[in-house]
Amino acid sequence: LKQKIQCVRGTRDILPEDMPLWHRTEQVVRDVFGCFGFSEIRTPVFENTALFERGIGASSDIVGKEMYTFIDRGERSLTLRPEGTASVVRAYLEHKMPYRDLGQARLFYLGPMFRYERPQAGRFRQFYQAGAELLGFENPEADSECVAMLYTLLLKLGFKELKVDINSVGCPACRPDFNKTLVTWLIKKKDFLSLDSQRRIDLNPLRVLDSKDSQDKEVVQTAPKPIEHLCPGCLEHFENVKRFLDKIKVPYVINPFLVRGLDYYTRTAFEILSGSLGAQNALAGGGRYDNLVGQFGSVEIPAVGFAVGMDRLIELIKSLPSVEIKKSKLVALISQGRPAFEKIFILAQQLRVKGFEVWFDTSNKKSIKNQMKQASVLDARVAVIVGEEELSKGVIALKDFSSQIQKDISCEEIELRLKEILNAN
Ligand code: HAM
Repeated sequence: LKQKIQCVRGTRDILPEDMPLWHRTEQVVRDVFGCFGFSEIRTPVFENTALFERGIGASSDIVGKEMYTFIDRGERSLTLRPEGTASVVRAYLEHKMPYRDLGQARLFYLGPMFRYERPQAGRFRQFYQAGAELLGFENPEADSECVAMLYTLLLKLGFKELKVDINSVGCPACRPDFNKTLVTWLIKKKDFLSLDSQRRIDLNPLRVLDSKDSQDKEVVQTAPKPIEHLCPGCLEHFENVKRFLDKIKVPYVINPFLVRGLDYYTRTAFEILSGSLGAQNALAGGGRYDNLVGQFGSVEIPAVGFAVGMDRLIELIKSLPSVEIKKSKLVALISQGRPAFEKIFILAQQLRVKGFEVWFDTSNKKSIKNQMKQASVLDARVAVIVGEEELSKGVIALKDFSSQIQKDISCEEIELRLKEILNAN
């Protein structure tokens, strides 16, 4: 018996019918990020394991239990990238970008990421991110600019009434003291916390603050919070981030419990949550990471960035009241009889070379009626019909599917007439 092979748990196929929405969304990402001066970078989907272990941090869930790590045939330990930031920082250093343009770079990326998480709605083991990294700026305007870019992207995609959750998680100057205060407090409450959170008290106490467990949430309401214990530098930075967001009218709420799941964050952390995604409600997240570049290179370069989950984003776009998907540009060539088929076969090549998107029934076995039916299933915008009658008259019939108007034209006119129909709204 043949064994059934299916796609791996936590992965999925994105089918042709969903592609127009993916393409449109990716295009808006490229346009908006481009408007903010960011350039695209593509890094490999696998890297040396050490990059993520050191970059994301040993106490994070990602490094602790979610990485796809394997030994290749050359006995190297490699890992499918669980996120994009560490890779971008590696590339930034590898191509010596810190020594160009005062170390400043604005880079963005789109692509698949891999995490061994428990699959559920909106959570996959292969998922897609659009991310951006702004390297070389320590000033709070950079943080606000990143938040503004994320906000602008979501506005352009049709979202309204969005709020960005922001917080500050402090820096190496103030976090150690805060951690001590927090651990002392958490130990007293230990018996009321979930097992996961109890484990985190030693490993990564900050993470207890954003536990998703409902009982934990209640307990930590009265816990010490990082924004109440910031050093003067972090406090001033946070005040300014908020001030600049106010100035450019980006709405936000301060969420003192927001702690991101990756260890590299310093100062600003932000997230966009979406109620309709259930438990997996983070649509996008990011923050400042002033010490990551220095961890891998000999220069300290401050940075800030974020990533949006494309799978979650696209699910949400589908539920928006007016998703306007690009109108079809498909031209269907319909023929009857061998001579007409040969004519449209040649015409198809001529039009495709000119950039028209063309379909015709390659089998030449279907009736005109059947071909028209298939063209409509394929959502063709216009049909070019060459039947026996058209062939004898030396004309071509053009049918505009949106207006249902059909008329005969001469062969010379075809490109012009097609453009008129395809470019009309
Ligand atoms: P992250 O919060 O781990 O941040 O991921 C960003 C977004 O990716 C999440 O908000 C979510 O929408 C999406 N995402 C994460 N895991 C999954 C999953 N298993 N299935 C579907 N979507 C998922 C980062 O990755 C940081 N590198 C962001 C960043 C860039 N910070 C600074 N620069």
